[in-house]
Amino acid sequence: MAAFAADGNGSDMHTQVGIVGAGPAGLMLSHLLARHGIDSVVLEARDRDYVEARVRAGVLEQGTVDLLDEIGSGERMHREGLVHEGIELRFDRTPHRIDFPALTGGRTIMLYGQQEVVKDLIAARLAAGGDVRFEVSDVRLDKIDSAEPVLSFRHDGRDIDLRCDFIAGCDGFHGVSREAIPRSELTEYHREYPFGWLGILAAVAPSADEVTYTYTDRGFALMSLRSPTLSRLYLQVDPNDDIANWPDRRIWDELHTRLAIDSDWSLTEGPILEKGITAMRSFVVEPMRCGRLFLAGDAAHIVPPTGAKGMNLAIADVAVLADAIAHWYDSGSETGLDEYSATALRRVWRAQHFSWWMTSMLHRFGDDDPYQRQLQLSQLRYTVASPAAAASLAENYVGLLKV
Ligand code: APR
Ligand code: PHB
Repeated sequence: MAAFAADGNGSDMHTQVGIVGAGPAGLMLSHLLARHGIDSVVLEARDRDYVEARVRAGVLEQGTVDLLDEIGSGERMHREGLVHEGIELRFDRTPHRIDFPALTGGRTIMLYGQQEVVKDLIAARLAAGGDVRFEVSDVRLDKIDSAEPVLSFRHDGRDIDLRCDFIAGCDGFHGVSREAIPRSELTEYHREYPFGWLGILAAVAPSADEVTYTYTDRGFALMSLRSPTLSRLYLQVDPNDDIANWPDRRIWDELHTRLAIDSDWSLTEGPILEKGITAMRSFVVEPMRCGRLFLAGDAAHIVPPTGAKGMNLAIADVAVLADAIAHWYDSGSETGLDEYSATALRRVWRAQHFSWWMTSMLHRFGDDDPYQRQLQLSQLRYTVASPAAAASLAENYVGLLKV
């Protein structure tokens, strides 16, 4: 538990690790640290309902599933999540299957929404007496170069200074943690894509058994699912398009057109419960550390969702970080802390490449270049025809053991 001492106007507290952000990265980190007997405080700007309702992607690699099991938060995931043994690639109006277990020595993926993971992590952390604070405001990071960095914030009408041994910046791409590092210390890598995804959640049984990635002349489409009665579907659209231009009828018509194949199959429609447009980008910042501040998850890197890697990378980062911090408390050794950024970035860059590659192969680019289109089709045909090429996609998708 964090020590607390009132000091007149404001309040002064101490914890071992101050964590900014209650997304998958921040929450998982607080669990992993607790397993080592290390206390932490998680500071989240939004309220609990908002964080638990935010619809995001939903593909978990085996390593992510294993970690949720290890911290004892896997029970509902195994009950309600769906184990998948492959994906479908559609192009030229023809479906092709990529068989994961056959290509990767038996490995699979789990479909379970990110917000369900977040719900489970919050419930388990609070049940264990963990300190997760919602609706904090004005979070500021100070003295990150010292042995006692400070997180200042406002909560329940009080200004609080939280002194920490370490700060973990797990506050996503738009958070404040990365901004606390002097620009001169960081190298940023960017790629913007000339398209976004329009995503819907629909109350209808999925029309396909597996996640289906579709390449067409009209752009990319993706069919995914959350449960036997909930479908998740996406369309490539202009990133600046307004969702108001997409009444439900237009969305279903476009999905029917893009997903059509030459055999007996059809898409079943249902009520749309949620819809929104998200821009796509790739982003990495190096190093993922400055002094006693460590960045993890979307605070340090973003991938386009085509490779389904965002949440898995966030979880992989904090697994490395928790071990490094625990090693420091156990032995006083800085080795793990010093290696954190380079170790995490090896996996980050592999996922960057895979996500960029999937994105480039499956989307129509604005310039409508016929040469580019032939390259995409050739790559798709090669990927489904060659066991070596299919295995490369499969091993990246299920998550590489070694990077
Ligand atoms: N103070 C406190 N909390 C903040 C602040 C702030 N200034 N800024 C942002 N946050 C919170 C956000 O409200 C959010 O709940 O930090 C959390 C960051 O969570 P995520 O965005 O889910 O990021 P992360 O935990 O790294 O998980 C990455 O999320 O965006 C998806 O596709 C991405 O699946 C990937 C995953
Ligand atoms: C999803 O189910 O939301 C999903 C699946 C695969 C992706 C992206 C999102 O690549």
